[in-house]
Amino acid sequence: MYIPEEKVSEILNTSDIVDVISESVILKKSGRNFFGLCPFHSEKTPSFSVNASKQIFHCFGCSAGGNVLSYIMKYHGISFPEAAKMVARKYNITIESETINPAKRKEIHLKEGLFRLNKTVMGFYFDELKKSSNGVKARNYLKQRGISDDIIQQFKLGFSLDAWESIVQVIRKQKVDRNIAVQSGLILERKQEKGYYDRFRNRIMFPIFDVNMQVAGFGGRVMDDAMPKYMNSPETPIYNKSRILYGLHEAKQYCRQKGFVYIVEGYFDFLSLYQHGIKNTVATLGTALTSDHVRILKGYAPKMVLVFDSDAAGISAAKRSIKIFMKEGVDTRVLVLPGDNDPDSYVTKHGQDAFNTCASKAKTVMQFLLQVSIETHGLSVEGRIRILNDMKQHLILIQDTALRSLYVKELAETLNIDEKAVLEKVRDQYLNRSDKRLSLMDENINEDMLESDRREEQMVSMMLNRPETIEKIKDSDVLKYFYSEKLKQLAKKIISMDPKKEAFITNVMANMKNNEDQELIASYAMKDFDSEQDVHQTARSLINRIIRVRKKQENTLTNKIISAEKGSDSEVMELLKQKQAEIQQLHSRL
Ligand code: UTP
Ligand code: MN
Repeated sequence: MYIPEEKVSEILNTSDIVDVISESVILKKSGRNFFGLCPFHSEKTPSFSVNASKQIFHCFGCSAGGNVLSYIMKYHGISFPEAAKMVARKYNITIESETINPAKRKEIHLKEGLFRLNKTVMGFYFDELKKSSNGVKARNYLKQRGISDDIIQQFKLGFSLDAWESIVQVIRKQKVDRNIAVQSGLILERKQEKGYYDRFRNRIMFPIFDVNMQVAGFGGRVMDDAMPKYMNSPETPIYNKSRILYGLHEAKQYCRQKGFVYIVEGYFDFLSLYQHGIKNTVATLGTALTSDHVRILKGYAPKMVLVFDSDAAGISAAKRSIKIFMKEGVDTRVLVLPGDNDPDSYVTKHGQDAFNTCASKAKTVMQFLLQVSIETHGLSVEGRIRILNDMKQHLILIQDTALRSLYVKELAETLNIDEKAVLEKVRDQYLNRSDKRLSLMDENINEDMLESDRREEQMVSMMLNRPETIEKIKDSDVLKYFYSEKLKQLAKKIISMDPKKEAFITNVMANMKNNEDQELIASYAMKDFDSEQDVHQTARSLINRIIRVRKKQENTLTNKIISAEKGSDSEVMELLKQKQAEIQQLHSRL
């Protein structure tokens, strides 16, 4: 269902966020804001704040944030239209469906159709497993793998018949639109003749739910040694592998409770752990873990434990994921299970307590990498030098200097090498990576660069809190000079809105597609913008400063590149160009 923009505005303008959030969080007024214990991460002292005049919430602990609708969505794990309807009901606002533009309607129609079809097909697979005589083999398979009826019920496991056209027939009978049927990936076009056939045949079926409890896709496993062992839905408009995590729709509440989440690889790993009471778990389904995954999980738990098989593939997967965690700055542990076990076989054999004991010994990332390196090189003199060489690459990735020196100390002790020698190696590595490039840089550029992010952020805060400055900002074309792509995007959206609109901040938020953007808006909006001076004066000087600094930096770099080109110093030229790209990238990370 689609809620027209005007309705969303009405809901935002009528509702009161303090009133709504008070239904689920105890709020106390303190200064300008209300504070309470954050429902989105576990904490003992309140860092969850609600601002009545801006009609937004923001958690200083886990950076969840948004308007009243984002709150309801996140809190209840429901979709945007559902949240809108829920709040509308509370304030007696009626929502009639209205006309929307044709492209949007088509997209909504397609997505709704795909979800509806998946739900129907899930029911079909489920019935085949539970009721039909065809399902006996599948039922026995699941029993033999120790999966309980409750789990089958809760996760709606199913069975796809050993037939070519059973889903094709379901689709025909239900008169599902052909485009929707094909895009769902559930059926495939025949090559030799006309017609379609089922993608999933003779497999145990796992519906894959998104966080809003809608069926986004399926996975299917054979019941013998046939290949491929698993088959998954292709990417569709509603199924994006790099964003979906199996089981999160049920696990999210437990992740919040426990404050951490286990990340496993497979369907059975997830289901077995869940069945054994280890419910704060999600599975990546064999695809590499992405930054999106990690960012999504961050919304539910600040700590993550990677659980991997002890085989070589598991270890290299762990190493790959670790880079992502470091980049996202998440507290990560690595749990390698003993023996030849994966999480499923381990918990099935040894039970919940044994798993928990194991998990409590999960290693920090550095300990894990060190262990792998020791196992590879051994502790001979040569081996220890190689280990040191391995580890220095990882150590320089640690941003926190105190933490880094702790690890240096630990490494020195383990290898029985003087701490100073280890430090020197790490420093060498550090210099090696950045020497030439950094020295080519104007000192000022470095400082200016950090400053410009701050200024761009300030400008976004200003636009939100003082929309009367927007017109001037728009006229100055200053966004063109933003370094941060993210801030530029946000600012563009803000500028495109009518600054005279009531409840400006919440309306801007309503226009942001994804949760992350909403959270950013909330955090910028929360910044108090009490300018002593005339706000237009502040706007003017911010605009000038941003434009001037950018022009100056570009000039300096361009001049250097030009003179390098003249002197045909290709190496320096390359480095400068790289630097230019790097500066851009640094800012776009935000
Ligand atoms: P594994 O091969 O480790 O299997 O793949 P598993 O989960 O232990 O499965 P069981 O216990 O033998 O049934 C891990 C995950 O990788 C994905 C699946 O999501 C699987 O759960 N995978 C694996 C595929 O997508 N395709 C494959 O062919 C194999
Ligand atoms: Mn397994």
